[in-house]
Amino acid sequence: MPGALKQWPAWPEFTEGKSEPDPTGELIQYKKEIIAIYGEAAIRSSWLKVCKELEKVTDDISEKGTAAIPEVSYTELFELSPERKQVLKDTGCFVVRGVVSESLASEWFDNLKAYVADNKPNIGGWPSETPFVLRLYWSPTQLAARSHPHQLRLQRELNSWWHDSPTNPTMSPEPLSYADAVRIRPPGVPFFGLGPHVDAGSLCRWADPSYRKVYDHIFSGEPEKHDCYDLETRKDAKQAHFRGGAHSTVLRAFQGWTALTSAGKQEGSLLLYPNVKTAIAYMLLRPFFTAPASEKEIMDASKWTLDTDNGWFPGTWKQDSQRASPTSHPHLRLKECMVNIPAMRPGDGIFWHTDMLHAVETDHLGKHDSSVAYIAATPTTEANNAYMKRQAAAFMNGGKVPEDFTPGNVDHEGEFKGYVGEAGILNGEAGRRAAGIVGL
Ligand SMILES: [Fe+2]
Repeated sequence: MPGALKQWPAWPEFTEGKSEPDPTGELIQYKKEIIAIYGEAAIRSSWLKVCKELEKVTDDISEKGTAAIPEVSYTELFELSPERKQVLKDTGCFVVRGVVSESLASEWFDNLKAYVADNKPNIGGWPSETPFVLRLYWSPTQLAARSHPHQLRLQRELNSWWHDSPTNPTMSPEPLSYADAVRIRPPGVPFFGLGPHVDAGSLCRWADPSYRKVYDHIFSGEPEKHDCYDLETRKDAKQAHFRGGAHSTVLRAFQGWTALTSAGKQEGSLLLYPNVKTAIAYMLLRPFFTAPASEKEIMDASKWTLDTDNGWFPGTWKQDSQRASPTSHPHLRLKECMVNIPAMRPGDGIFWHTDMLHAVETDHLGKHDSSVAYIAATPTTEANNAYMKRQAAAFMNGGKVPEDFTPGNVDHEGEFKGYVGEAGILNGEAGRRAAGIVGL
């Protein structure tokens, strides 16, 4: 299994006692509503189809390992043949080599390190005992990395891979610079906080009727028709239906980060499940079924029973991201199919579909810090625009922490040594427009 983990980390297994409690029967009600709309037969038919398809998907990923994650250069991304582009879309994740030059990314990293050193007592982070995801949003490095002309051009391209209503479109691929944190992970510190998970909400996928609609084909017995790039319903889905620190308010067409340092396997990097359509279908259907009692029959989907009186949504909480584990989601064969991304150089980017399972390596056995700036491809939609207006207002208000995030020790970065504010945005009017500050 090239690229799969030699040893599965001590990530939690999700059992019935380890998920959102349901004292009032609220969760059972969500299941009942969905079954009332689509019917038991349709959900069961989808379950069987998806588990069957997963046999192929998991065989393929476990054979290819890291090689299942496509790689393209920054230039190639704009010249993809239709067939190659389809491969990237179907896989749902890919490395883009050389989004910016290695020297520029290294320069950004040096600046970031100095900014962090100068303001250390005022910078919070996560996890609290060994913080390395730093609560920084407006450092000169992040502003530059988000607004670099290559970055915006790349994001516009990725956003355009999604499509809106042909008759009444309200989205545009023009990129928005969602302000997210930055990571500087030192070697030698194990981290178990981010096992396999999907962002963009969790229980809200079933609870919010507009979010549920995104998965219409999956619930209606036709999972093969699910279109992962349909923005027409997705743009109205409420990812923060249940508010929580793990949920971004904006829809990111692709999550992503840009490497500021090199990082390879076992150097605190990323693991991906390089399939989006079948894996997300399985995650959506899984809560409706109860496993057979016999261990030997677990992988036989036909032996699972549809259970309408059980409020257990495996690995699901209102406030946390959607989680998965080998025992709660056996058909995903996570131990074989969560694969390391290829070794990254400074300036490379990795992007993954908003519905993709991903995890952070527990070990960093390398010799130097592993640093990335979280930079997603965020399309212009009405809901995204509304958030961006508030984000831009916070930025212009002395570098206030954006609404989606918890403040560190100081909630205005404008007080930091080395803070440059809007002067840090590159690319003139285009950079300022993406940051949401034009016309504010
Ligand atoms: Fe995540």
